[in-house]
Amino acid sequence: MSNAIPAPRVLSGIQPTADSFHLGNYLGAVRQWVAMQDDHDAFYCIVDLHGITVDFEPAVLRDRTRRAAAQLLAAGIDPERSTLFVQSHVAEHAQLGWVLGCITGFGEASRMTQFKDKTVKGGAERATVGLFTYPVLMAGDIMLYQADRVPVGGDQRQHLELTRDLAGRFNSRFGTTFRVPEPYIVKETAKILDLQTPEKQMSKSLAGPGCLFLLDKPSVNAKKIRSAVTDSGHDVRFDEANKPGISNLLTIYAALTSTSVADLEQKYEGRGYGDLKKDLADVVVDFVTPFRQHTLALLNDPAELDRVLAEGASHARDVAGPTLAAVYDRVGFIPAR
Ligand code: TYM
Repeated sequence: MSNAIPAPRVLSGIQPTADSFHLGNYLGAVRQWVAMQDDHDAFYCIVDLHGITVDFEPAVLRDRTRRAAAQLLAAGIDPERSTLFVQSHVAEHAQLGWVLGCITGFGEASRMTQFKDKTVKGGAERATVGLFTYPVLMAGDIMLYQADRVPVGGDQRQHLELTRDLAGRFNSRFGTTFRVPEPYIVKETAKILDLQTPEKQMSKSLAGPGCLFLLDKPSVNAKKIRSAVTDSGHDVRFDEANKPGISNLLTIYAALTSTSVADLEQKYEGRGYGDLKKDLADVVVDFVTPFRQHTLALLNDPAELDRVLAEGASHARDVAGPTLAAVYDRVGFIPAR
């Protein structure tokens, strides 16, 4: 008889809403996903249902979904060790999302800052109801798999709090059904900043010269690093309040080379910003070049990508199905015959 303790469960998701992941997605989330495969039972999901909460084109969405899969594989997600799948392939996500929506307060959902941020431009009148309930669907993604940990960037903290509240609320009202998940946010890389506007976080919605897309040509990315905005001083020192641009470059450099910011400060003591940027541009090129080649090679065989995703969905359904069945029973739905 084995008395091995099962590995903790991890679940995370990424939206197929850009042609390429950006460096913030990678350092804030995907890098942790890859590392956590070693000692977790891992579920990673391309969240296409979330991808239609904002403007989208069907053909583009289809292409971006496969691109997301290819990038996750190229980054090191191993389908032999992780369950990699597409959200819409597992109907339980939408089904649990509905039930959770019915135990979420309207005011509670209205307090989600990401919805407010995303609706600043177009106003609430133009925003979809899907965008409003986005965090509830996300809570369902996590709860369906009884995840212990959820590796995300710092911008998802509030959504994780809502998830914990909903799991606790469901459990106390209907009997223990869900594990209450913990956010897994790596402090150093929780918020990678835009290279041109280092007051803001790097984001595809700011997509300009300050957003480093991993699949852009390496020479384009080298240029983006070399022309990153820095302050008027010249000593290379980590100081987020006064030197956000340089501090961001140090964070990126340290993360991509697995060194510490302190070691980098020492290395660049007495040298200027130019040296730092030139070296970091080389580091970035060394990282993105094989990543890009690997991704493009995988995209040449969409049938194989679809096969990997189908296998992932089949395993995901095996886990999600029993959770949803328990939920349906506890809320009082009679069994379908
Ligand atoms: P998405 O696709 O917008 O972002 C994917 C991940 O990238 C992180 N991230 C960043 N981290 C650090 N610095 C940045 N500048 C930066 N920009 C983005 C995000 O925090 C995220 O971890 N709502 C999720 C998708 C989702 C999900 C889930 C996540 C849907 N269901 C269930 C976890 C569990 C999102 O933000 O995706």
